[in-house]
Amino acid sequence: MTIERTLSIIKPDATRRNLIGKIVARFEEKNLRVIAQKKMQLTLQQVQEFYYVHRERAFYNDLCQFMISGTVVAMVLEGENAVLKNRDIMGATNPANADAGTIRADFAESIEANSVHGSDSLENAAQEIAYFFSGLEIVG
Ligand code: CMP
Repeated sequence: MTIERTLSIIKPDATRRNLIGKIVARFEEKNLRVIAQKKMQLTLQQVQEFYYVHRERAFYNDLCQFMISGTVVAMVLEGENAVLKNRDIMGATNPANADAGTIRADFAESIEANSVHGSDSLENAAQEIAYFFSGLEIVG
């Protein structure tokens, strides 16, 4: 087992519905530790940069507008196999396909307003963590 770090974002649909604590509890119950956390109102430019990989997708503009429609909570999660574990806890991107008991099955409103983002690989996790946090803000 390897100790990994991954980036998690609680999205505006979830912060609007006061679900921050319930979502963080899902990670802590599965032994992921929050080693950095901040609540933010992102700018359009910041979101466009973060989701740059999706810039050609039909949903890109709507996704960016959604992500600036309210506050988000960015977190670094640490634990054994954190990247895959976080994705298991989140469930499938589309809540209609998410397994019972996952965050998206229980809380997401739609494929866009799907409550959480999580890094999809260890390499992307390192990049995404560095996008949101400086080394001094991460307290492992
Ligand atoms: P996330 O894991 O944050 O990565 C990209 C996001 O785009 C995704 O979650 C969804 O919220 C959003 N999205 C909207 N429409 C789609 C779609 N058709 N396919 C994949 N992602 C989508």
